[in-house]
Amino acid sequence: MMEIIQGIKAEVGSEYPVGIRLCGLELLDDRGGNTLEESIESFRLAQEAGADYLSVTVGWHESSLPVITRDVPMGHWLPVAGKVKESVEIPVMMAFRQFVPSLPEKAMAEGLLDFWEVCRPMIADPQLPKKIEECRQEEIIPCIACNICFSRLYYHQPILCSVRPSLGHEGEKAWGYEGFPRTANPKRIVVVGGGPAGLQCAAVAARRGHSVTVYEKEKVLGGAVRMASRIDDGSDELLRPIHTLETECRLAGVDIQRGVECTPEMLKKLDADEIVIATGATFSPLSLKSPLPVLTPEDILIHGKNPPRRSVIVGGTGTGLSLAVFLVRQGAYELTLLERNQKAGRDVSPFYLWRYLSLLRKSGVILMTGTTLAEVRTEGVLVRSGGKEKFLPKEGILLAEAVGGSSPDPAGREQGVKVHVIGDARKPRRLHNAIHDGYRLGMEIGNDTGN
Ligand SMILES: Cc1cc2nc3c(=O)[nH]c(=O)nc-3n(C[C@H](O)[C@H](O)[C@H](O)COP(=O)(O)OP(=O)(O)OC[C@H]3O[C@@H](n4cnc5c(N)ncnc54)[C@H](O)[C@@H]3O)c2cc1C
Ligand SMILES: Cc1cc2nc3c(=O)[nH]c(=O)nc-3n(C[C@H](O)[C@H](O)[C@H](O)COP(=O)(O)O)c2cc1C
Ligand code: SF4
Repeated sequence: MMEIIQGIKAEVGSEYPVGIRLCGLELLDDRGGNTLEESIESFRLAQEAGADYLSVTVGWHESSLPVITRDVPMGHWLPVAGKVKESVEIPVMMAFRQFVPSLPEKAMAEGLLDFWEVCRPMIADPQLPKKIEECRQEEIIPCIACNICFSRLYYHQPILCSVRPSLGHEGEKAWGYEGFPRTANPKRIVVVGGGPAGLQCAAVAARRGHSVTVYEKEKVLGGAVRMASRIDDGSDELLRPIHTLETECRLAGVDIQRGVECTPEMLKKLDADEIVIATGATFSPLSLKSPLPVLTPEDILIHGKNPPRRSVIVGGTGTGLSLAVFLVRQGAYELTLLERNQKAGRDVSPFYLWRYLSLLRKSGVILMTGTTLAEVRTEGVLVRSGGKEKFLPKEGILLAEAVGGSSPDPAGREQGVKVHVIGDARKPRRLHNAIHDGYRLGMEIGNDTGN
């Protein structure tokens, strides 16, 4: 390392700053990795070799502790930078979950850091520094640490950001990175549903000059993200993009009507040019007769109902797994999770899936893949897997298999009004799909009469 630094310095001259990124805390104690003190030695050596600044990292891909997921509180790793800074004289910088400017600002004031390094928050919003400078922090599109950008690299897929669909399209005018071209034919657009899909669509359509009204049946916006935000430590960060979308809508002049449930009759009277159905998913009602209580994620996560201690969760995609995580964190549940496909959590970012599965395993949750619910009896459930049936003593059924729900849809079609279905209403998926669906439709809506 020292020879490399010295070689580069000799090549570029003393006027050109050369820094190096080194790991401050490997988190590999279980495998004989370097301790903090040993790592700090490498920073001292880099300084000795002539490095002009040091970038401190934490963990390796092999580390078995979470490093950059939401369960790691923002600013958690700053003491590692502080330890490095105590040991060297040259400037020290660090990224790693410093998602809001107040954190590095405080760290710099306290002498833990010299520079704020930012990776994912700048992917989510490259205008972050400009917005801070202009006191427009509430307009910063916030990174939600989902790590989908990261995961895509492993699958050799083009990078994608959950919360900023314009990533990779910055040079294309229609994608609106620098502002959207105004439509020549403004339309009256009604959006049904104030979840991420509806809000994102409304914000983009309004920025293009359409007149947009969003109807949300609840008093609060956010849709299923409100449930997602209650699952685990740090999950409340999922509400940050909802707040930003609300701000975007407000600044773009979207009329948001909270606490108003759209019905087909009402939609007929609204005289919209185009209707967007963004009503989200519903949890498939049980097709079987059930003598046992049946609850939905909404009953538990929004209305605070406690399910029976021995319950079966029907559906092992992200929703079912999150529900199990929420419950085992609340107390001693004996849960069995049924997933009809051979693999559970296929829709969950790998950065979260391994953690969820390991927590569920440790908490004694039984995961049965390739398995469906066959019958509900007073004392439990009969499940079916590969032609074989098995009885499980249970006291409750928790529904976590989502289906799209586009209920007010026909109203528009009857009148010949163009109706679009986006987000989970089209197909239950994840937050990034809802945001991307909304954004794309917002870019295109009203285009038929020419823009
Ligand atoms: C428990 C749980 C955990 C999850 N965890 C994650 C996660 O960690 N990461 C992730 O990426 N995704 C997660 N998801 C999925 C994510 O929340 C959804 O994919 C996303 O919210 C879908 O957005 P949407 O706007 O399409 O629908 P929704 O968010 O469901 O919003 C639909 C909105 O429409 C409103 N509405 C419905 N009918 C009407 C009507 N007739 N009139 C007016 N308003 C109406 C609803 O009240 C709701 O506010 C989770 C989902 C659940 C249930
Ligand atoms: C898509 C992506 C690619 C990355 N590639 C590298 C890399 O090549 N080398 C590296 O040291 N870190 C890489 N990182 C890690 C970041 O530099 C950064 O340390 C990490 O994301 C934590 O900082 P943050 O919380 O500000 O995102 C990458 C991160 C992302 C999201
Ligand atoms: S994909 Fe997720 S982690 Fe990556 S920058 Fe976007 S919001 Fe952040």
